[in-house]
Amino acid sequence: MKLCVALDNDSMKENLALALTLKDFDIWLKVGFRSYIRDGKVFLEELKKINPNFKIFLDLKLYDIPNTMADAAQEISKLGVDMFNVHASAGKIAMQEVMDRIKDVPNRPLVLAVTALTSFDNENFKYIYNEDIAQKATTFAKDSYEAGLDGVVCSAFESMDIKNNTKKEFITLTPGIRPFGEDAGDQQRVADIALAQEQLVDFIVVGRPIYKASNPAEIVEKILNSL
Ligand code: C5P
Repeated sequence: MKLCVALDNDSMKENLALALTLKDFDIWLKVGFRSYIRDGKVFLEELKKINPNFKIFLDLKLYDIPNTMADAAQEISKLGVDMFNVHASAGKIAMQEVMDRIKDVPNRPLVLAVTALTSFDNENFKYIYNEDIAQKATTFAKDSYEAGLDGVVCSAFESMDIKNNTKKEFITLTPGIRPFGEDAGDQQRVADIALAQEQLVDFIVVGRPIYKASNPAEIVEKILNSL
């Protein structure tokens, strides 16, 4: 299981300082809306300067018509990131177009699809999707698998069922991880490391418990020791 640290700080300066303190760890870094909208490509380049081996997950959750998503995927593939994501609810055709568009890219980034955001509880999810999270997340995962994606974003609670309905190697990446019982914030389907391991999760994403800690490197070390 790999640790992916969300760089969701208030400024690029703070994110780079955080990356610097984590530069010797074997981790992935997640660049999401806030950081990418504010700091763009320059931020990705600065991260690679700190450690060229940092693996970067660009978490922009594409959701649009198929052609626009494929265009965006093509542009993302030029950024040198190692993984990015789309929303499975954009549909199988859109996901197939994304994969088709980037199939010949050398070192193609991994592509994951968001199933059910970890901030949803079942009631609020059902209001939008008319189905329980457990079933719909698996249906979204099957669509993503059939469209040729590499894996999905889900909560630790859905990981095993998704693997049983696709294949073991189909990646599950789970945000909403609170390694040592930290505050959940806006996350609803939170899990600890032991549960993620039981559920065969491939990547855990941890944001606030690390970047808001007084000593983030210490927390990262503690997490890595428990994996
Ligand atoms: O601070 P916290 O550990 O809750 O951060 C989780 C990170 O994972 C955030 O950057 C959030 O945008 C992202 N994320 C998520 N749920 C998803 C996909 C991404 O929480 N389904």
